[in-house]
Amino acid sequence: NQQIESQNNQQPPLMFKVLKRFNRCRAAVVTLPHGDVRTPVYMPVGTKGAMKGLLSENMAELIDCDIMLSNTYHLFLKPGEDIMEQMGGLHKFMGWNRNILTDSGGFQIVSLGELNSLDENGVSFKSHIDGKEFLLTPERSMEIQNKIGSDIMMALDDVVTPTTSGPRVMEAMERSVRWLDRCIQAHKNPDRQNLFGIIQGGVDDELRKICCEMMTKRNLPGYAIGGLAGGEDKEDFWRTVKVCTDLLPDDKPRYVMGIGYAEDLMVCSLLGADMFDCVFATRTARFGSAFSKYGMIKLRKNEYADDFGPISEECQCYTCQNYTRSYLQKTFRADQSCLHLISLHNVQGLRNSVLNDTAEQYARDFFINYYRDDK
Ligand code: GUN
Ligand code: ZN
Repeated sequence: NQQIESQNNQQPPLMFKVLKRFNRCRAAVVTLPHGDVRTPVYMPVGTKGAMKGLLSENMAELIDCDIMLSNTYHLFLKPGEDIMEQMGGLHKFMGWNRNILTDSGGFQIVSLGELNSLDENGVSFKSHIDGKEFLLTPERSMEIQNKIGSDIMMALDDVVTPTTSGPRVMEAMERSVRWLDRCIQAHKNPDRQNLFGIIQGGVDDELRKICCEMMTKRNLPGYAIGGLAGGEDKEDFWRTVKVCTDLLPDDKPRYVMGIGYAEDLMVCSLLGADMFDCVFATRTARFGSAFSKYGMIKLRKNEYADDFGPISEECQCYTCQNYTRSYLQKTFRADQSCLHLISLHNVQGLRNSVLNDTAEQYARDFFINYYRDDK
């Protein structure tokens, strides 16, 4: 471990600059190889290399996107790592010259249910395309993510659902640390790709603390909080995020994986998290909710079909500057970009309020409105 801790001391291709704070919440800029990311940020998912319904040359402008998320698992199966490598990486393959973050693959295998077995060596699974068997190890995940050339790569982790209890939770946390060390050893491009560790440990505060302590020693450019938003109580979820943001370095980005509800983006940002994604963007009622001073706007409702104003008149976010309620209502069912625009409004609104010193009022108004009954 001594060797791993000291070998990782070179300057990573990431800079994190906090512009302003409101208590634990930060408005910051993460500078990566493909430009600046303004945080808190909500990252859209382009699972198969492109976002549904949007061409990548338009996407950056259409949804004001600094960073997109992609999955090692999907890219590995199709188009495959060799095509990716021949093309010079995913940025070139997609014609996308802003940042890309890739998840390591293990979580998708486990959650998509094609898992065959999992042991200390890695995860073995059957392709959902042709049934062929593959083994994903920490070394393989790094090799593929190095070929993809993502700006942020996630370590392969052993994930259990947050409702799991007993010794399996500790086993998965400890294995995630061992796998992280194998990822650090196998990572070939530390000069141009950032490797993030993923904190595990279920909703057990002690396990989370141990994991934060061990992973922080590895001196990585950033950290994720994983294993959440899988059916646990909000109280457990939010407390776990707080335990982790208390212990993770203040001068590095923190990424809470797999969350998308407006209230979670708000709470986690206020607790000091900076990055979010939601791979499984479900279209439940709350998901389409956008915050405005006059109450929550539930954009799926027909009453907004002919409403040509922005979500919020005084909001300076990209969505409110460029889109009407009517547009958002109409695209709500059609594609993911609408959900992205709403989430963007929700996080950029908070970011701007931190920058304007009005975050306290913003957060207060948000929660007063959010849990108010529908009229
Ligand atoms: N996506 C959502 N949660 C997780 C997690 O815990 N680990 C990984 N690798 N991806 C995730
Ligand atoms: Zn807005």
